[in-house]
Amino acid sequence: MNKHIITIFLLSALLLSGCSKPRPRYVIGVSQCSADIWREKQNTELRLGAYFQENVELRFAAAYDSDERQVQQIDSLLATGIDLLIVAPNQLQTISPAIDRAYDSGIPVIVFERKTNSQKFTAFISADNYEMGRVMGDYIATQLDGRGRVVEVMGLKGSSPAIERHKGFAEALSHYPEMQIVATLQGDWTEESGRKAVEDWLQTDAGREAAARGIDCVFGQNDRMAMGARQVFTGNHTSHLSPLTSPLPRFCGIDGLPGEGGGIQLVRDSILDASYIYPTHGDRLIDLAVAILDGKPYDKELQLRSAIVTRDNANVLLMQGEEMMRQSERLDQLHRKADSYLQQLDTQRTVTLLAFGTIALLIVAIVLFYRYYIGQIALRRERVVNTLWALNPEDVEPHSLQNPAGANDPSAQRQEPASQPERTHSTDSEKPSDQSAEAERPEQSSAIIAELSATASQSQPSQVPQKEDSEPETTASTSFFITRFKEAVEARLDDSELSVEDLASDMHLSRVQLYRKVKAVTGSTPVELLRTARLKRGYQLLLTTDKSVSEVAYLVGFTAPSYFTKCFKEEYGQLPGDVRSS
Ligand code: FRU
Repeated sequence: MNKHIITIFLLSALLLSGCSKPRPRYVIGVSQCSADIWREKQNTELRLGAYFQENVELRFAAAYDSDERQVQQIDSLLATGIDLLIVAPNQLQTISPAIDRAYDSGIPVIVFERKTNSQKFTAFISADNYEMGRVMGDYIATQLDGRGRVVEVMGLKGSSPAIERHKGFAEALSHYPEMQIVATLQGDWTEESGRKAVEDWLQTDAGREAAARGIDCVFGQNDRMAMGARQVFTGNHTSHLSPLTSPLPRFCGIDGLPGEGGGIQLVRDSILDASYIYPTHGDRLIDLAVAILDGKPYDKELQLRSAIVTRDNANVLLMQGEEMMRQSERLDQLHRKADSYLQQLDTQRTVTLLAFGTIALLIVAIVLFYRYYIGQIALRRERVVNTLWALNPEDVEPHSLQNPAGANDPSAQRQEPASQPERTHSTDSEKPSDQSAEAERPEQSSAIIAELSATASQSQPSQVPQKEDSEPETTASTSFFITRFKEAVEARLDDSELSVEDLASDMHLSRVQLYRKVKAVTGSTPVELLRTARLKRGYQLLLTTDKSVSEVAYLVGFTAPSYFTKCFKEEYGQLPGDVRSS
């Protein structure tokens, strides 16, 4: 039984292990220096890009502008066993050692948008920050007819875009002698930092003086800082500083995001004068990552194309940008739907396999139990029959007593034809010789009979009709009945003409009553018991007399010795002659 159960469990485990998700082909870690709308847009594109790749898993981490956190996050991503790292370093210096560690550990590293100060990276992808600063400087100077006073709010100190944008901006303005950068203020890319930088400056003597002389334009190195600075000038945050320069200066930024509150909309609505699209292109990052992992050719330095946003093109750019965002959103929804559908399928598969495993286990358990149960019933029947006919343990054929499988043999329970060729040859000397065993019979058998009576009627409810009076039969009355039946059989064992009707009338019962009772108590039919009794008597005669096999056959009521031999062989597994010779 154990063997079967272990097999089923192993099978189930095997099937269930097939249910669990396969390991992704590539795991890509993404370390973002910040968390803002520009990063969100890029992360969405990264996810969409991964949908188009086969079995790529992304692990995101956002450092919220903290060098320390980003270093920790890079180390943690490495520890999870990523295949490639994509990283936007918060600052040049501080993050470089962690990036070097990743690179030295043997995985490819893609640095994007912000630079590291080391050469340990596999690829670098970004738009040209110097060019952006330069174009914005040129634009502002042109708008002011080459004559004006400008304030610059720089991004996070030590981050490469801040350094490069400033260089480009200063270089552009250097070509306009009457353009003056009156202040270069320090922000950290957040709106709050832009507001605070301007507010603090305006409280200094230099700031107050500059404001009094007038400011023509504020260039925030990104749109958020430009908007923070604007709040100071519009008085949203600075009632204590008013009156400020009048008229309101122009405000320019960088990022040019599409969507609600993005730089393009701000330019279209004349809140900002200009912006510059700082491309996110997460999809291209993923394509590059997979190309590297697949061992395909790639560019070590990839420059993303970009463009300035002014009132002239803002409307068109906004429409295009919004349309692209809508499509991306739909694609994302579609993918999420497909994902949840696949998950459902997965769950269904698991449930089906579990149910299948359980059912298989149950079937095996039922079959094994049924076989054991039937074996027990057959064994008990055999014991009853043996006890009834008073065979000593040594008289009983080992095959029938000790081998429950033999007891299960259908041939041992065969249905005998009513017209079997048997004839009467009865002598007193042929009666069972072991009187002591016979004396013990009722006691030996009563418990077994009671048990058997119960199991026989349980095991064959449809085949064995219940007693007509339907009263529960007591052990004593069953024992008495069987004793009477045995006596009736033994009295006429040698009568080959003996029928069930004869036995029934000897016991003052109808043929049907006798059949039902005997079957209910022993599980065997009267004819089967009669034959068993004949064969056992024959066995004894062969052992204890010198009579020939033919004589014995006739003496126990068989009309043909050949039929006796056949039945004997079926019952004991050996020929009558073999018993004699042994
Ligand atoms: C987003 C951001 C952008 C800016 C860029 C500079 O996190 O602050 O606004 O252009 O990073 O790296």
